[in-house]
Amino acid sequence: MEIVILRDDKDAGELVGGAIARLVERDSSAVLGLATGSSPLPIYDNLIARVEAGGLDLSHVTAFTLDEYVGLPVDHPEAYRSFIRRVFTIPAGISDDRLHTPKSNGAAIDEACADYELAIRSAGGIALQLLGIGSDGHIGFNEPTSSLGSRTRMKTLIEQTRVDNARFFDDDIDQVPMHVVTQGIGTILEARHVVLIAAGESKAEAVAAAVEGPLTAMVPASALQLHPHATIVLDDAAASSLALAEYYRTTFDRKPDWQSI
Ligand code: F6R
Repeated sequence: MEIVILRDDKDAGELVGGAIARLVERDSSAVLGLATGSSPLPIYDNLIARVEAGGLDLSHVTAFTLDEYVGLPVDHPEAYRSFIRRVFTIPAGISDDRLHTPKSNGAAIDEACADYELAIRSAGGIALQLLGIGSDGHIGFNEPTSSLGSRTRMKTLIEQTRVDNARFFDDDIDQVPMHVVTQGIGTILEARHVVLIAAGESKAEAVAAAVEGPLTAMVPASALQLHPHATIVLDDAAASSLALAEYYRTTFDRKPDWQSI
């Protein structure tokens, strides 16, 4: 696991945006795993700026999102398909037919989840998966006690996650859906590179538990300790509870220039 502690959002966007740009230069049809929520926005802004400047073409990539709310109309502005189209795929030039999001409406959710797993596999698997982390340690919407081997399925959100996400719903928790469809932890671990980004004090405890605590289903992000290529990108506040923060800083500062994340 590589822990990178950076000054601010802009540096995080530049670092991860650069890694994605290099991936797409090597393979123009790379498969990207996208997260929604606030954390990855600096990365999306960085990538959009590269596309607008003419230095990057994302039009041949395929994208899979992590999760979707159950019960929101597909055109609801906070449905994750609407969100990711608005903040990233449309401005980045990724067409709707290359954007896959879990289907979460209708009776046949189990079948739709199995289809989503198949679609990821048929696309050749995810090359780079972006992740945020919940204040309770969730990745995707795999809440504490999710199986570390879980696959795409329906989950019920913990109250704290609904409280955290009420900011997207006029601060009204009653508007936040109770249920979601999410890639499982086992699904996420199959991505060839996972990059988790977190900023702010509210993530500090979850980050420390995930990175330096025991591997446990109570902290779903701790499953990333099992991944051979996991990068954790933090600002100072999100890194503030890490016992080995200075070690991570020194390690990253002394990294040879040629070695990317
Ligand atoms: C979103 C997702 C969630 C978020 C997490 C953090 O697709 O899967 O795990 O990444 O809830 O959300 P933010 O970034 O809004 O703090």
